[in-house]
Amino acid sequence: MKILITGGAGFIGSHVVRLFVNKYPNYQIINLDKLTYAGNLNNLKDVETASNYTFIKGDIVDTDFVMELFALHKFDGVIHLAAETHVDRSITDPLNFLKTNVLGTFNLLHAAKIHWADSTEGKRFYHVSTDEVYGALRLGEETYFTEETPYDPRSPYSAAKASSDHFVRAYQHTYELPIVISNCSNNYGSYQFPEKLIPLFINNIKQEKSLPVYGDGLYTRDWLWVQDHAEAIDIVFHKGKDSETYNIGGHNEWTNIDLVNLMCDMVDEELGREVGSARKLITYVKDRPGHDRRYAIDASKIERELGWKPSIDFETGLRKTIKWYLSNQDWLDNVTSGEYKDYYEKQYS
Ligand code: NAD
Ligand code: DAU
Repeated sequence: MKILITGGAGFIGSHVVRLFVNKYPNYQIINLDKLTYAGNLNNLKDVETASNYTFIKGDIVDTDFVMELFALHKFDGVIHLAAETHVDRSITDPLNFLKTNVLGTFNLLHAAKIHWADSTEGKRFYHVSTDEVYGALRLGEETYFTEETPYDPRSPYSAAKASSDHFVRAYQHTYELPIVISNCSNNYGSYQFPEKLIPLFINNIKQEKSLPVYGDGLYTRDWLWVQDHAEAIDIVFHKGKDSETYNIGGHNEWTNIDLVNLMCDMVDEELGREVGSARKLITYVKDRPGHDRRYAIDASKIERELGWKPSIDFETGLRKTIKWYLSNQDWLDNVTSGEYKDYYEKQYS
């Protein structure tokens, strides 16, 4: 089986590539990535020489390139993760999100349709999407996003992801392309770019820089260990039903401020500092425009139908994550240098 994984040099993609390369020695895994600021081949050092792994640098927005790639490789499956993913960046540069997330997804769908025209037997196009397409839930209510929740995207990022989900379903409905979609909550773990809340704050605590909590800090997210997401992607890709959607989440809601306090204390402990000292770095700052109040996933369908559930509790996963960032300073220095450095310094210094 020849599988195209897009965005495999990013955070979640690198965990998916590693899982597939190690678990399926008989598959050929092709990782297509543009290596934007968020893509980093250092995330995949341990598998880069594997005989079943190939990396190709390329842009999914380039229609001709994508068509040629499909003609050359005759993929059996596509697991599509490549995207622009940071909500704050989508507010300042929405067009880039439209191009990569919508046009990029369209190019892949169209190439799959053309190249699988003779037979779709054994083929599958899997779009890895987000819970943000469902909009926002109220704080303090016991409500959850299910697979039936109507789409209500509210940031340029989630609007672009919602649009790409619609194109994926339209290609199934109109052309019978065999597709599957999953919508997942916030991931955390190793190799996440340090613009996202958890790695940014671990790094800032280490460097005794301020911790910019947006608004009142009561925004709530449902956090999932990235390796559990990668396992879920493996299960959905192999066992999910054609045309279905699966929500993936951690049953693990935290307000940002509670999470930040927990991170402060854990990092203090790990660094042998006085516990509580990092909390002094917390600074409430101007809110993110259009900030979604709360996300929470009902992941009962994937558990019931495919037998997946998270494997690790949050405090264990968070501690492992903190230890990983504290002991991988080289990785952090590398990804925060170059092009990203200017952005990082402008945003966070
Ligand atoms: P990321 O930003 O860490 O990585 C994205 C990857 O895509 C990078 O390697 C980048 O180089 C690549 N890429 C970007 N534009 C490209 C282009 N035009 N052509 C080819 N490659 C390109 O993202 P992530 O957090 O790993 O997210 C991966 C996917 O999972 C995304 O589709 C995202 O919407 C989805 N998702 C993320 C989360 C989360 O919490 N991070 C949760 C749910 C769903
Ligand atoms: O829900 C899934 C989504 O989770 C993914 O689809 C996105 O790609 C991913 O980036 C993530 O989006 P969020 O906006 O929820 O993640 P982020 O880490 O940017 O922010 C988490 C919360 O923390 C959010 O409420 C905003 C807040 N925040 C974030 C940063 C970077 C702060 O208060 N301060 C910050 O400096």
